Amino acid sequence: MYILAALILSGVGALVSGLGTDSPPCRFATAESQNSVLNQPDRFAWDLLYWEGQFHQNNVSYSTENGMSFDGTLLDPHSGIATVKHPFSAASKEALQVMVYTHAIAGDKRAARFLSPLVPELAPQIALDILSKKLASCQEFNSTFPGFGGFLPWFTHGDVPLQPTWDWVNRVPALDNGEFIWAIYSAIEALNARGDHQSRTLASGWQTYLNYIFYAGNGRVCAVVTIGNQSLPVNHPSQKYTCEGSGLLDDPYEGELFTWFLHFFGGLGSSDRNQLWEVKRPQLAAVNYQSEVYENITVQKGFWFSSHENWKFMEMPYLDIPLVRRVYMNNERARTCNSKLTRNPGMFASVNNVTDASGEITGYISNTGIPSISRLPDQELDVITPYSVFPVMLVDPAIGLVWWKNMVEGKMMQNPYGSTESTRIDGTAVSSFVSWDSKITTVNALLGGVQSFVARKMKRDGVYGEFISITRMEYSRVFTNLSGEDVALCLPDTRVPDGGLVDYTSCS
Ligand SMILES: *[C@@H]1O[C@H](CO)[C@@H](O)[C@H](O)[C@H]1NC(C)=O
Ligand SMILES: *[C@@H]1O[C@H](CO)[C@@H](O)[C@H](O)[C@H]1NC(C)=O
Ligand SMILES: *[C@@H]1O[C@H](CO)[C@@H](O)[C@H](O)[C@H]1NC(C)=O
Ligand SMILES: *[C@@H]1O[C@H](CO)[C@@H](O)[C@H](O)[C@H]1NC(C)=O
Ligand SMILES: *[C@@H]1O[C@H](CO)[C@@H](O)[C@H](O)[C@H]1NC(C)=O
Ligand SMILES: *[C@@H]1O[C@H](CO)[C@@H](O)[C@H](O)[C@H]1NC(C)=O
Repeated sequence: MYILAALILSGVGALVSGLGTDSPPCRFATAESQNSVLNQPDRFAWDLLYWEGQFHQNNVSYSTENGMSFDGTLLDPHSGIATVKHPFSAASKEALQVMVYTHAIAGDKRAARFLSPLVPELAPQIALDILSKKLASCQEFNSTFPGFGGFLPWFTHGDVPLQPTWDWVNRVPALDNGEFIWAIYSAIEALNARGDHQSRTLASGWQTYLNYIFYAGNGRVCAVVTIGNQSLPVNHPSQKYTCEGSGLLDDPYEGELFTWFLHFFGGLGSSDRNQLWEVKRPQLAAVNYQSEVYENITVQKGFWFSSHENWKFMEMPYLDIPLVRRVYMNNERARTCNSKLTRNPGMFASVNNVTDASGEITGYISNTGIPSISRLPDQELDVITPYSVFPVMLVDPAIGLVWWKNMVEGKMMQNPYGSTESTRIDGTAVSSFVSWDSKITTVNALLGGVQSFVARKMKRDGVYGEFISITRMEYSRVFTNLSGEDVALCLPDTRVPDGGLVDYTSCS
């Protein structure tokens, strides 16, 4: 039935886009003023969702064959049309994809605008269909490479069957899998709530998959685990797992999603569970953001204070705790006001560097954020990215949208698949690339994150109360006195300068 619907849809799509009906202009952001976005954020978000949704295409962001994501795709620097895709991806991109589907399955109109703007009624079915293929792909990966125990390494697919990328053979990262696990968890909740036969069957398939991963957990919080032989089952006598190097996953940021998974479902005893939090405790710290203009703003000390670090807040119900919400708001006061004070047209988040004359990405900038309130102040502060707004978007969509608009107004920062990866602050170069990270974090934050789905299922599974009490305890040890809570979130008052770039011909 869905195949038929899809055929009709593509027919309608060609017809309707030919007529230009109901599609906002590609460069819609430049036609808006800051005030119009503040006054009507929903209308602006409606256009944003339409264009970011153009990224959700076969061979651009995922494969319609197996339902798995592709990390991103390079754009022709002249036309803006997709050229070469990254034929690989990771569990973190899977997480962003599944989170959007959770909302679509729950009947969210904005998720439908993203997934199927022309025939929004089809959105839940599209999400179900892709999630079925994705489950089959994960199961097949597990049967070919049982040594991963259901976790995903960086993987490649497309021209080849799903398999670890060359540099992730016999290795698996924890952080990305933590993100993936809670996204699946949210989807199971939405599927069960939908309640029809197909949804329930799919929910139970994913639950079985999660239960299997949980069993295989093994209890080590290594940042990366080395697998003896990825082709051998977890319980094979000659299988073995070791931490790669000394890297521990003990951060109080997004890596914590994996810690929670171990805590609740890793089969650990209570003393091991307590130790998980003791090991992490020194990293959770308060620091004052200081400036000449504002009073001190007490924030959670960042690693770099890159927005990427805030991923955990859109998957688990941290913001249900009033103290955590207050700290979170202060973080965003510091993030937005720091950019205003430094006359930065945008904000910082770990992102791909600009592309060079031959259209290749020149590097990945991890170390970017706000040096004065981070553990690692040695940073590169020359490239901004639209997705740096996702943390503020989660709590104040209108302010988030204004910052987003301010960045995508830069030359070449909109393309036929929505927003562009990143731009230099001086406007002299952009990254002609589109990716899940730089785009769909924002979309998920706009949809409110999946933490309410996760909270409902956690209550059903009897683990919500413990999550709240541990988190509250950890944060109250550190945050006894917050300064700066009366500072308003800041708005940008400077633009990306015209550095001589020319907009993509297919989006001008
Ligand atoms: C999508 O990519 C796959 C693998 O690279 C290729 O075989 C297929 O022809 C592509 N499909 C389209 C419609 O371009
Ligand atoms: C994963 O593979 C193992 C080993 O082949 C198998 O026992 C298990 O049932 C599989 N799990 C899932 C969820 O398919
Ligand atoms: C890993 O296990 C597979 C399946 O038993 C076996 O064919 C292969 O030779 C093993 N690889 C190594 C390097 O031992
Ligand atoms: C601001 O923060 C700094 C560093 O934490 C501290 O030394 C100073 O006393 C604070 N100022 C006020 C007015 O609280
Ligand atoms: C990013 O590109 C700039 C040149 O545009 C270069 O100076 C910088 O070193 C690059 N950084 C990384 C991490 O690739
Ligand atoms: C809390 O911070 C405010 C402002 O920095 C300060 O005036 C007050 O004395 C602090 N209170 C405590 C208990 O530290």
